[in-house]
Amino acid sequence: PTIHIITPTYSRPVQKAELTRLANTFLHVPNLHWILVEDSQRRTPLVTRLLRETGLNYTHLNVETPRNYKLRGDTRDPRIPRGTMQRNLALRWLRETFNANNSQAGIVYFADDDNTYSLELFEEMRSTRKVSVWPVAFVGGLRYESPKVNAAGKVYGWKTVFDPHRPFAIDMAGFAINLKLILFKPQAYFKLRGVKGGYQESSLLRELVTLNDLEPKAANCTKILVWHTRTEKPVLVNEGKKGFTDPNVEI
Ligand code: UGA
Ligand code: MN
Repeated sequence: PTIHIITPTYSRPVQKAELTRLANTFLHVPNLHWILVEDSQRRTPLVTRLLRETGLNYTHLNVETPRNYKLRGDTRDPRIPRGTMQRNLALRWLRETFNANNSQAGIVYFADDDNTYSLELFEEMRSTRKVSVWPVAFVGGLRYESPKVNAAGKVYGWKTVFDPHRPFAIDMAGFAINLKLILFKPQAYFKLRGVKGGYQESSLLRELVTLNDLEPKAANCTKILVWHTRTEKPVLVNEGKKGFTDPNVEI
């Protein structure tokens, strides 16, 4: 199957570095299609060039998150969804591009631009029949969060401290979906409004599957193959008000 990777991204000083690192990872993955969705009014020249130069198979989209949804004050406010409209646009693109009954086999994975992905992760997700799941490191105030898997290899709950009673207490990086399921459930999107922190993933997954359908990967969820790393903001104070370095040099 083709792995369709959906990545929301937005302009900031570290964007090109993040996308470069991500592209370098994806270049090692066979049969990958990168759907990069910019949170912007237009597709930017920086991202356009970067994508072209990677040689990856990609689709470049954009949709700007309306101001009233965006970062009010606290940039880490968990109630404000980040990347949600971009992921939803990519889901729509998949449904408009592929046909439910005769499309080629595919897997859909949401890969934020700042996480760290092992190559093994992509091999694990390739066999996803409906929705596969695995642990994610550095989320929820823990070394890792994980699905709970019983001796029969069934997911029966969530090993998290933060609200383990969520329908799907799992980070965006912790699951992959078979393309067929996305195409056969065309009404399933991430909810934009009224979603409490940590419920964004559940808002999509509950439209697609039940707990019983989940397929644990990564050695029954005992291996860490993805890390929710976050990039430190670079200190640019010496640029001053007018800027010190040549603004024509792209970073
Ligand atoms: C956590 C989760 O891991 C995300 O999947 C989830 O979207 C997010 O919380 C949330 O619900 O707010 P976190 O590291 O806090 O992630 O979020 P970011 O990595 O800053 O943003 C997630 C993705 O959205 C990134 O790919 C980022 O580039 C993109 N993004 C962020 C935008 O497209 N626009 C923004 O204004 C901010
Ligand atoms: Mn992140």
